[in-house]
Amino acid sequence: MLPVALITWPFEAEILEPIRDRCQLIVNPEPRFWTPNEFKLRLRDAEIVACMLTNRITPEILDQCPKLRMIANVAVGYDNLNVPALRERCVLASNTPDVLTDATADLTMALILAVTRRVVEADRFTREGRFDGMQFDLFLGMELQGKTLSILGFGRIGRAVAARAEAFGMRILHGRSEFADNRADADASGVHVAGALRTSLEQVLTEADILTIHVPLRETTRHLINADRLRRMKSSAYLINTSRGPIVDESALAAALRERRLAGAGLDVYEFEPRVHSDLLALPNVVLLPHIGSATREARRRMTEVAIANISDYLNGRPPRNLLPELTRDDGPTSKELQRL
Ligand code: DGY
Repeated sequence: MLPVALITWPFEAEILEPIRDRCQLIVNPEPRFWTPNEFKLRLRDAEIVACMLTNRITPEILDQCPKLRMIANVAVGYDNLNVPALRERCVLASNTPDVLTDATADLTMALILAVTRRVVEADRFTREGRFDGMQFDLFLGMELQGKTLSILGFGRIGRAVAARAEAFGMRILHGRSEFADNRADADASGVHVAGALRTSLEQVLTEADILTIHVPLRETTRHLINADRLRRMKSSAYLINTSRGPIVDESALAAALRERRLAGAGLDVYEFEPRVHSDLLALPNVVLLPHIGSATREARRRMTEVAIANISDYLNGRPPRNLLPELTRDDGPTSKELQRL
């Protein structure tokens, strides 16, 4: 009997070709995420799943799906997976690093430019028919040349943002990696940002004209940006988040923006996604996007190809090429599973 592989999104037939003959494919026919219940029911018989950030794999789900052996997460972040529970149950899991770095760094720059040059506000103004001729002080914003960009998390995406910001003439600071994914920091070869200065979290906060977040969501990074840290930032500064919502205390951010203790924010992710804090929705100095950091046709295609390549590795009896770092370091149950392959 071939193993059952559940694919939670209608990937193109061509992308599924490398695994088609080696498993029984069950593919979601519709471009719609399954509800948690639908997902759980379909996962029951699966040995392999290609899933998305919206599919939470909890210890309870793992217990109800004992056949599950391999999870290909179609995202670089994997806070939807309970890694300790995977380790205990010898379930392998992979992600899709590298292929969405440029797309996410581009979107970070888009948010930086949109919020500092008030692009969305100005667009709205024009559409409302309020433009009655160029005015000298209309929608004044902040220039990037010579300003300080502080980057929290100097991994692949953080460095790609730094390289772009350098071309805009920005001074780059980045935090020590105590809050970052050390592996991402260590692995981020390829992008050399000559002038980037590594410094303390305190300096990163207090000197930022723009603070951009690129750390993964872990227990250590939850509410990394809280009321106290927001208070240390300049009132003329902007906050950008294209990483994960819960890294920022959203109520504290909304209060800082409302009280003009911060100039503005550009957000692609939210603490209680898909819900957006009502105060943020009401503020004009915030640009809000619906988690589209990696949403380019190129990146999304490569993400699906990488997920299928990881499944193909597993079906070929090899460790998946993008096995999660926590599992590669494993000297316990997962290593037995890897030896079995
Ligand atoms: C990721 O890859 O982690 C993105 O947030 C989802 O595309």
